Amino acid sequence: MNFDNIDWEAMWREECSRGPWKEGAAAKDLWDKRAPRFNKGVKRQNDDTDGEKHDYISKMLQRIRVQPDWTVLDIGCGPGTLGIPLAKKAKSVTGLDVSPEMLRFLGENAEKNGLDNVNCVNASWQDTFAGDLIEPHDVIVASRSLMGAEVKNALIAIDGLARRSVYVTFPVIHLSLDWDAYEAIGRGRKKHPSYIYILNMLYQMNIQANLELLESEVRFEFASVEDAMEQTGWRTGQMSDEEGGKLRGFFEDMFASQTEPPFVHNGRSLWALVWWEKGERRDLS
Ligand SMILES: C[S@@+](CC[C@H](N)C(=O)[O-])C[C@H]1O[C@@H](n2cnc3c(N)ncnc32)[C@H](O)[C@@H]1O
Repeated sequence: MNFDNIDWEAMWREECSRGPWKEGAAAKDLWDKRAPRFNKGVKRQNDDTDGEKHDYISKMLQRIRVQPDWTVLDIGCGPGTLGIPLAKKAKSVTGLDVSPEMLRFLGENAEKNGLDNVNCVNASWQDTFAGDLIEPHDVIVASRSLMGAEVKNALIAIDGLARRSVYVTFPVIHLSLDWDAYEAIGRGRKKHPSYIYILNMLYQMNIQANLELLESEVRFEFASVEDAMEQTGWRTGQMSDEEGGKLRGFFEDMFASQTEPPFVHNGRSLWALVWWEKGERRDLS
């Protein structure tokens, strides 16, 4: 067996096919629905009154290097969790997202922050990279948005479009809560397709990427058990009545010691940050 002949992409695709999530344009409605909750993350950049907490964003912002004359492409930008703070430091940010609702929040957030250098592209990255819709940018960021069978095509396209550097992140543990919820409904422990396939695909593309595991504290607030079920349910996909009953019991037990809403979950998530700079490459094959 030879390392170069291992088909990491096929393994990645196989794992993706087992996941419950929708991909590409088909995911639009799901993300539209999630947009208000994600928008709270942008609010938190300027406002500490919100009780929820995720320090992933600040950790990412410490690592993404931009200069005032650089352009940034933010793939799966959401409401601008990274894009808005980056636009304050860069020449411009192009936010690409499949969800019109996320982009509506991005536009609002740009306006609230007095930014006129934020552009929106409403498309899936799958469709974008299949065509020729995007011009090169200095820095390309795809934060928590590249899960999908077509990831290798995306990595090739992203590397081709980046003039200086690329930052992409993938879940290792999305939320400890998810794992426990999966176990509670009898589906075993949920795992995401591993970032190790990504590193190996890049290696075979002659890209020596850096890896950093970012541990992030998360603090979620849920208005009710139903709210918690909905926030978890979108990741489990369709549940049977029996599974739904078990999930309800799981949250009722979890919140039993909290007398009134909002019900709080404190946990940790772990993300793989894979990043590389463009430059001369030595063919290692
Ligand atoms: C988990 S959120 C991440 C948002 C932001 N990048 C962050 O890290 O906070 C995923 C985002 O990717 C977008 N998205 C999901 N699939 C996509 C696709 N195939 N093409 C473009 N955007 C996509 C969603 O609409 C959502 O805004």
